[in-house]
Amino acid sequence: RSDAGADYYEITARRATARLLPGHDTEVWGYQGTFPGPTVESRSGRRTVITHRSELPRPTAVHLHGGHTPQDSDGYPLDLVGTGQHDMAGMAGPPGTEGATVLPQREHTYPMAQRAATLWYHDHTMGFTGPQVYRGLAGFHLVRDEEEAALGLPQGPRELPLMIADRSFAADGSFAYPELPGGAPGVPDAYMNGVLGDVVLVNGAPWPLARVDRAWYRLRLLNASNARRLRLALDPQPSGGGALVQIGSDGGLLERPLRHDSVDLAPAERCDVLVDFSRYPAGTRVRLRNRLGDGPAGEVMAFEVGSAAEDGFRLPGKLATVERLDPAKAVNTRTFVFHKGKQHWTVNGQEYRPGRSLAAPRLGQIEVWRFVTDFHHPVHLHLDPFQVLGRAGGGPGGNDAGWKDTVDVLPAQGVEVAVRFTDYAGRFLVHCHNLEHEDMAMMAEFTTT
Ligand code: C2O
Ligand code: CU
Ligand code: CU
Repeated sequence: RSDAGADYYEITARRATARLLPGHDTEVWGYQGTFPGPTVESRSGRRTVITHRSELPRPTAVHLHGGHTPQDSDGYPLDLVGTGQHDMAGMAGPPGTEGATVLPQREHTYPMAQRAATLWYHDHTMGFTGPQVYRGLAGFHLVRDEEEAALGLPQGPRELPLMIADRSFAADGSFAYPELPGGAPGVPDAYMNGVLGDVVLVNGAPWPLARVDRAWYRLRLLNASNARRLRLALDPQPSGGGALVQIGSDGGLLERPLRHDSVDLAPAERCDVLVDFSRYPAGTRVRLRNRLGDGPAGEVMAFEVGSAAEDGFRLPGKLATVERLDPAKAVNTRTFVFHKGKQHWTVNGQEYRPGRSLAAPRLGQIEVWRFVTDFHHPVHLHLDPFQVLGRAGGGPGGNDAGWKDTVDVLPAQGVEVAVRFTDYAGRFLVHCHNLEHEDMAMMAEFTTT
């Protein structure tokens, strides 16, 4: 539904049976009962209002990842929706969760005062985000704007949002997610590195095959895995290489296209790429592979190149105007240390506690934030995107261009970003987007004022 001022959606999270694997039924927890959930589309500057409800056995909080969103609609981990008749076992456990309120519905209002970008929405429930996203609570939310429309990018059947997520299945076809810790001391082994699966799903289908024309395609790549890191490459590479032409990252269009042989995507990162399939002879089977995965986890999907050709698309040399956040104008430098211990996982020595704020940045001011880790931690900020200034004392990495909201911080390799929070005073989150790490309290709040 739409009116003069806004677009309206109603989304109910519910259980449903899906045929993900041939010959097996899988129970999914999905928005509208599907995995992925329905794709929401917004126009930049035009309000989108989503009424969220849930019929799931557990309550859910819904976060718009990459959304520039006031706190009340951000999907704070205690802002739960549900029927009120839940199995609350374990939910009263972590200190600070007493403040959780389960409402039958929540209206999230997204002003969408942000650039065109590939966003996604997913569960963000305190302590249970990993298992709930694993069961299917994730969907795309695309934002479009005039600047992007003017480029005439491939669209319709030649624009493919691809949600890549690994999963494991039990023999009966159900998702195999390791048991929750349930208050036991220490961190279960399955959680140390995060939960990995041996089946790669793309938009809910295992290793799918897409038929493509000999033409340009736009692939909006999203790594929606709980913990798996991806290094995506086309195989074979067309002669001359550089098959993946990156036009955007988490926060929308880059200034100009960047050609890659492969792109790295940590959990929650997005990469918007164009691929010119006319560089392949008709009949070629082009595989999208994950160079960091072994065996089946090294395969993602395949494209069968047809004979239909030509679209007249010309890759523009300039894509967008991207403002630079000047670190010399930063009013503050803050360091966030992500530490994975045997018992406690922490940010700056603290496990996540709702309501305990670790930083109070002022709206409108540039700050430098340094993320320091002892392991792979994809660090994500709510509210506003950032720009990567450098890694390990050097410049930004090959996949750090543009506006980012998640950055893959490698072991012992600090990352510095410039960030400027704007518009909305309130409490927001910085956390590791390895979802098991997040559930093990590797999350912190900051308060914008
Ligand atoms: Cu994609 Cu705080 O999450
Ligand atoms: Cu987010
Ligand atoms: Cu982590």
